[in-house]
Amino acid sequence: MRTQVAIIGAGPAGLMLSHLLYLQGIESVVLERRSRDAICATIRAGVLEQGTVDLMSDAGLGGRMRREGFRHEGTVLRVGGVDRRIDFVELTGGRAVMVYAQHEVIKDLVDARLASGGDLRFEVANVSLHDLASSRPFVRYGGYSGELQTVQADFIVGCDGTHGVSRAAIAPQALQTVEHRYPYGWLGMLCKAPPSSDELIYALGDDGFALVSTRSLQVQRMYLQCDPRDQPEDWSDDRIWSTLRARLATRDGWQPKEGVIFDKTVIGMRSSVTEPMRHGRLFLAGDAAHVVPPTGAKGLNLAMSDVRLLSRALIRFYRQHGEDLLDAYSATALRRVWRAQRFSWWMTSLLHRAPGADAFERKLQDAELDYLTRSRAACTALAENYVGLPVGPLWD
Ligand code: APR
Ligand code: PHB
Repeated sequence: MRTQVAIIGAGPAGLMLSHLLYLQGIESVVLERRSRDAICATIRAGVLEQGTVDLMSDAGLGGRMRREGFRHEGTVLRVGGVDRRIDFVELTGGRAVMVYAQHEVIKDLVDARLASGGDLRFEVANVSLHDLASSRPFVRYGGYSGELQTVQADFIVGCDGTHGVSRAAIAPQALQTVEHRYPYGWLGMLCKAPPSSDELIYALGDDGFALVSTRSLQVQRMYLQCDPRDQPEDWSDDRIWSTLRARLATRDGWQPKEGVIFDKTVIGMRSSVTEPMRHGRLFLAGDAAHVVPPTGAKGLNLAMSDVRLLSRALIRFYRQHGEDLLDAYSATALRRVWRAQRFSWWMTSLLHRAPGADAFERKLQDAELDYLTRSRAACTALAENYVGLPVGPLWD
């Protein structure tokens, strides 16, 4: 079969791209390795930048997000038991974030694509990409019942995440990957409890980082800095709660609200960027091209800003036959990616205890935190990066 744009991967990047193209009359096929149930159940981060919130709304997908998400107008930095609130709205001229889980975004996108007859193919196997340098690239895959299928397209977009096949289809000498690994990981857990706080709390205690986030009035999400080699079984419920209590303790006796823990995962932390984000008629978007550590929750937002740019470029191509935006895509996307990398790295380094840090590094970290508690300029820099640097209009 033939389509205009073949999209590999039904994560936030692939699904949003398919939806934005559909809204402008451009056909696509989305090929996803996992089942619909699996992609709708995968637990990931849950903070939408202002630009992602606006994108969801402009794309007609904002209804449930506005009803069920939580608008957060600030966040709390808790260092050594003392709180400093960062007021996003005041510091950024009215911008804020929405706490709305990534899998809810996925559900909204899948529902919208299927309701408008979108071609989403789940549980495909052995996807391979061909003739990327020609103007008639194609994708092969094994369908649900095993027979080999071919999708011919004008363009292929690799939205298949960090372990996908798209990036690997490009000769390594045509790409450059820059990577940084952090000497710590996060233990993430979900528990049945009421919210402990109206706003997220990013805390640094003597022995490391803790984060209080939320999913709903009944389910809470919390994270702890851990050894990246830890297994979830290394963390008994008691150990989790006592570590959270210690790292989050304030001088006036604040305690997290406890409840039954029903999910535990260990998350590794790395920064990685692959350049360029294009090879012939193949474009990369989202985690297929870059990964950020979770502090600051930029992963989903970067995936969304990539496909927003790419959809504009593809729309221009089909409307005016102009390739200028397609040619500019990689460089334009990478500028934002690197700004987000810098911010994610900075926030991560600021709020974690690095094993092996020397006295000088520890003192620098203290000084950085001290500056943040005293300087409005430093708080503004945090706030504007956290809510996301402004993006242009969705369509001309
Ligand atoms: N064939 C088809 N689909 C694939 C293949 C493959 N070979 N490999 C991976 N996929 C699918 C995955 O199953 C997943 O559903 O591609 C999708 C990629 O989605 P994400 O990993 O969510 O990536 P992306 O859409 O770029 O979103 C980035 O998601 O990973 C988080 O933290 C990350 O928040 C960030 C966001
Ligand atoms: C989350 O709710 O999962 C979350 C929130 C903030 C982060 C990372 C993850 O910085």
